Amino acid sequence: MIWVYIAGCVAVLLGMSVFFGAPYVPSRRRDLRRLLDTALPLGKTDVVLDIGSGDGVVLREVSRRGAKAVGYEIHPLFVWISRALSWRDPNVSVRWVNGWREAFPDATTIVYAFSVSRDGKRLQRAVQREANRLNRPLKLVCYGSPLVGIEPVATFEAYAIYVIEPLHLS
Ligand SMILES: C[S@@+](CC[C@H](N)C(=O)[O-])C[C@H]1O[C@@H](n2cnc3c(N)ncnc32)[C@H](O)[C@@H]1O
Repeated sequence: MIWVYIAGCVAVLLGMSVFFGAPYVPSRRRDLRRLLDTALPLGKTDVVLDIGSGDGVVLREVSRRGAKAVGYEIHPLFVWISRALSWRDPNVSVRWVNGWREAFPDATTIVYAFSVSRDGKRLQRAVQREANRLNRPLKLVCYGSPLVGIEPVATFEAYAIYVIEPLHLS
């Protein structure tokens, strides 16, 4: 009976990710390293926000390069795992939040997302809202599916890189 209960809890937890956004599939570490070592070098003042940070592979690679990394993750199990894997790393923090709704840290310079096409519009809306709020451009890096209706400033292998300028709506 206890196994039925545990299986039920796991099913509910995994269902959360699928309901709110992309299910868990990690970025390939090799792709990520090639991106950060060539097309998107990071400086010490960069703050990378991974929306839907999963097990935190992006956060750890960013931290290894001396930049700050913040993960927004809706699934409590992944929040726990990623915090454990970056235990005592001052460059990494992970928050248990709905990434589409939460304000970005004010110091964010780059937003990373493993984008699936069904979330493209939500992602673009969230980054636009925050670029407007912060009143400065934000760099958006999409892995997987490119966004529709907006041209990337650069592409690199499976990545499309965008710059979202603030809009001043009166
Ligand atoms: C495709 S995985 C990407 C993981 C990580 N960014 C990477 O590239 O390795 C997507 C993650 O987003 C999380 N997620 C889905 N919807 C979310 C939401 N609304 N807010 C925060 N996280 C979400 C899922 O739980 C999952 O861990």
